Amino acid sequence: MMFSDRISVMKETILVAGGAGYIGSHTVRALCEEGINVVVVDNLSEGHRETVGGALLVEADINDAAALDAVFAEHTINAVIHFSAYAYVGESVSNPQKYYHNNVGATLTLLAAMLRHNVKQLVFSSSCATYGNPVRIPIDESHPQNPVNPYGTTKFMVERILADYHSAYGLNYIALRYFNAAGAHPDGSIGESHRIETHLIPLALKTITGERAYIEVFGTDYDTPDGTCIRDYIHVCDLASAHCAALRALADGAESRCINLGTGQGASVREVIHTCEEVCGKKVPVVFSARRPGDPPVLVAANNLAKTVLKWSPRWTTIREIIASAWNWEQHRNF
Ligand code: UFG
Repeated sequence: MMFSDRISVMKETILVAGGAGYIGSHTVRALCEEGINVVVVDNLSEGHRETVGGALLVEADINDAAALDAVFAEHTINAVIHFSAYAYVGESVSNPQKYYHNNVGATLTLLAAMLRHNVKQLVFSSSCATYGNPVRIPIDESHPQNPVNPYGTTKFMVERILADYHSAYGLNYIALRYFNAAGAHPDGSIGESHRIETHLIPLALKTITGERAYIEVFGTDYDTPDGTCIRDYIHVCDLASAHCAALRALADGAESRCINLGTGQGASVREVIHTCEEVCGKKVPVVFSARRPGDPPVLVAANNLAKTVLKWSPRWTTIREIIASAWNWEQHRNF
């Protein structure tokens, strides 16, 4: 029996913390498309009310234990997907308190509520930022973890907390280490919309819509074929389908562990910008700048574990189609 069949028979519900954010909203959409009941808990500090569609939105902070208790009491929650986190690497360096309080402290509040209500299945948003500067490429899950910024450290700390909670309390989890999330839903109704945009693809596209005059390329002297950094851009809908697969795996008794989510393919900053130009049919004005502190030269995932454990593989396999979906969103977005 499929997980979604079991859900509809048992009238159970998935709680999605941070479900109004970028990756959260695409996952909520995917769950709803599978016919699963979804309750989103989001304080809307980064997320957008418009994104949650047919799901129920509870506007609350995951650090609010009483609000969480009310949600767990009212709904039969059988698993949680936890996206609620601040994710600006630079801000995490200048204001680490904000990151440790929210990404770690509030996660403890959420985990405590799960345990109080005997909810023992969790899919957690982790990051390739937990690896720090890679010592080998592609990066598999056994690669050493030495995060180089507080954001990565918060994700690493929660991974360790989950391992201990699994041993002590029987909390079963899958922590998904995302590489570079990109793209938008193909219907153009939801996509990337950050309070402060720092990511390469949306910034490059905003030069074409006229919202930005140019894009800075941070470093052209890396030890890579064209001198710019290489990243593994994975479509946000592929991330969403991996969360559905992780819920199914947990329901089927999968081992608690951390799993990379990437395509296994790298694209350089120059390649991304060139592809934006091809997709949009316009030049992207570029200014070459110094390296951005903390940027590893290459981050590319080994994704074999996701393929075997989650029985998942990315459907958006070229950077061109990923950028085309982001461009479709960028032209029509209304939030
Ligand atoms: N870049 C530019 N110019 C820009 C923005 C980015 O040249 O204006 C470059 C960066 O230097 C980097 C690449 O484009 O080489 C991608 O940068 P992004 O900011 O889009 O993404 P990051 O790789 O820095 O960050 C992503 C996630 C983070 C996560 C990190 C782990 O967004 O949440 O990977 O390394 F922490």
